[in-house]
Amino acid sequence: MSKIVLKGNIAFTPTKEKFQIHKNSYIIVEDGKVVDICSELDKSYKNYTIQDFSDKLIIPGFVDLHLHAPQYPNRGLGLDKELIPWLETYTFPEEGKYSDLDYSRKVFSRLINELWRVGTTRSGVFASIHKESTKLLLDMFIESGLGAYVGKVNMDRNTAPYLTENTRASIVDTEEIIKEYMNKSSLVKPIVTPRFIPTCSEELLESLAGLAIDYKIPVQSHLNENKSEIIWVKELFPNSENYASVYDDFNLFGQTSTIMAHCIYNTDEEIDLMAKNGVYAAHCPYSNYNLSSGIMPVRKFLNKGVPVGLGSDISGGNSLSIPNIIAGTIQASKMAWINSNKELAPLTFSEGFFLGTKGGGSFFGKVGSFEKGYEFDALVIDDSSLSDINELSIEERLQKFIYIGDDRYIVERYVKGRRIEKPFD
Ligand code: GUN
Ligand code: FE
Repeated sequence: MSKIVLKGNIAFTPTKEKFQIHKNSYIIVEDGKVVDICSELDKSYKNYTIQDFSDKLIIPGFVDLHLHAPQYPNRGLGLDKELIPWLETYTFPEEGKYSDLDYSRKVFSRLINELWRVGTTRSGVFASIHKESTKLLLDMFIESGLGAYVGKVNMDRNTAPYLTENTRASIVDTEEIIKEYMNKSSLVKPIVTPRFIPTCSEELLESLAGLAIDYKIPVQSHLNENKSEIIWVKELFPNSENYASVYDDFNLFGQTSTIMAHCIYNTDEEIDLMAKNGVYAAHCPYSNYNLSSGIMPVRKFLNKGVPVGLGSDISGGNSLSIPNIIAGTIQASKMAWINSNKELAPLTFSEGFFLGTKGGGSFFGKVGSFEKGYEFDALVIDDSSLSDINELSIEERLQKFIYIGDDRYIVERYVKGRRIEKPFD
């Protein structure tokens, strides 16, 4: 059994309301899981190897609940358009390149290195429609030691000709990936990924739900991101109550664990349905700003008990850094507060931190916190040069790291108790 002890200033958010902070304490990890946190080392742990990080911070690894791996080369490009023209002009041409495995490898190694660098220990990832490239991405995540759900994108209509799949082939390829990867790794798993309603036929949606339910595989997609998209969905499915209920009518809305990115324009009924079905919302504020999509009223979702995590949504989003996105989330919540005549209270710092750790982490199981039994995904932060002028509390030091720090301050990364080095050269 692997046993490690780390010493430092330990901070995490068991609930969104407040941090649990253990100054100058020990965290004991056995077989990848947290077993105890104590200020004095009990003698039963005396013979464990101790990693003393002295005054550094030890926090949970960050969770990115929504990103597009093949859009990595497009980061920062073409963010002068709204969703549909952006997809057609920039995104689809880039996603067309992934029949090329050499190109895929080059992009994915850089992406995974950057996820590692910015402290993202678990991700929910869209690949492209390409089967072999998706398998390569799964294999590369496995090799890296980081955790991820990776989905082959499915789309069989309303997209570029070179991305329009044959419906049967799309299903057969998806099933092949599921069978090959569902039990291959405890950290990296397949996820069913209809791109969004406009690009999926009824037959495709129905068959994908069948696969998800038969093999007990989670689902990820997009919901209510842009007003033109919503009108389009209404035209395609005039008999469905709303956008969310199209997914629900096809059993792709919480019948297995589900993530829906964006959720900016959800009606109260759609939010209630998410709460009822336990569907996760992935809030992607940077993407929502860049594509002029709008501001998701996160507070409403939290009030109604919808599980919420954060997503970079590269390359709609321009940054892979969850700390940046935590700051962006809190900023967006302040705009939502103003826009709601101060009805929807802005998020607090602990709430933002919770969403970027345990909020999204819970999609992966006991992840994103240091409570007993949680998988030990952690970062060690050396913020000494950020907080050396005035005496700061641990929570204030964390605020500085999140708002003005960056990956240079992250000195160690752990996933499920294992120290992870830079994955690719
Ligand atoms: N909706 C459908 N596809 C996409 C995508 O690639 N990015 C974003 N932001 N929204 C989408
Ligand atoms: Fe997206």
